[in-house]
Amino acid sequence: MCADSRRAGILLHGGAGRYSIDERRRRILENAIKEAAIAGFSILENGAVEAVVESVRVMEDSGVFNAGLGSALTLNGYVEMDAGVMNGRDLSIGAVANLRGIKNPILVAKKVMEETDHILLAGEGAYKFARMMGFEDSTDKLITEDKKRKHRELVDKWLKGEIYKRFSKLKRFYNQNVDEAVGTVGAVALDYEGNLAAAVSTGGIHIKLEGRVGDSPLPGAGFYANKYAAAVATGIGEYIARLLLSKYACDLVERGKTAREAAVEAIKYITSVFGKNTAGIIVVDYKGRIGADFNTGGMLRAYLGEGLAKPLITIYRENIF
Ligand code: GLY
Repeated sequence: MCADSRRAGILLHGGAGRYSIDERRRRILENAIKEAAIAGFSILENGAVEAVVESVRVMEDSGVFNAGLGSALTLNGYVEMDAGVMNGRDLSIGAVANLRGIKNPILVAKKVMEETDHILLAGEGAYKFARMMGFEDSTDKLITEDKKRKHRELVDKWLKGEIYKRFSKLKRFYNQNVDEAVGTVGAVALDYEGNLAAAVSTGGIHIKLEGRVGDSPLPGAGFYANKYAAAVATGIGEYIARLLLSKYACDLVERGKTAREAAVEAIKYITSVFGKNTAGIIVVDYKGRIGADFNTGGMLRAYLGEGLAKPLITIYRENIF
């Protein structure tokens, strides 16, 4: 435990969803998030921003989440990714939306924060900026045969009318079921100086329209950090964005709630407006207290903080955090 009874640490999620997975898949996911938690925590002395970005980068590279190399395909078979990072110390932000061809959107988002006067770059402009910053084109790694097969299966189900039931106006285009959207990744951290940060990355909803932007690159919606708290949301972006869920959770901490209370209240809020199977959220507050909640079957999460020898990992409603 460090000064002022603060506990530095990092909390990660690997997406909210049904998680009716077998033991093998569970082990793969848990190992991937464990590696990401250790990677972020090991550089927490460099600051909360560095730690959350590193954890998210490792999850993007794992290929097992819907982010980076694991990103879902759009309706017409492309990969368009969203990511964002926020520094709670000075409210600086970097984000990218509809980014194609670059395997680590979170690193591009960090460059937007550090190297530009803007907070969010999208589409072709984001790609050009990434290339200018020295990122390689990884389109071949992002669109694989395995992903194309899964994509074809989803399109088949769509054509048979077996999926896409939630959105009335968009049902021709969206997979409405958060079970299929599982795998957005995020991290929140409190560092040894008491600074907070949030980072998020996603391939978005499977079979989304090209150009669709979810909650993830939108400050306040998919991520937020200030001097009170840092929060990252996961689930159906169209709902999360309408409620600015991450800012909502940080505001609750500012008004005196703990991270846990803020997470529970945020999920209660979105459930009351849009129903179940819509979202999950992770929160860390200025004391390093952590909170996570979700209205889906599960949400993969990992925590590593001062005093712990290894990450705590959970998916379902086990009473860990
Ligand atoms: N929450 C991820 C998305 O909707 O794109």
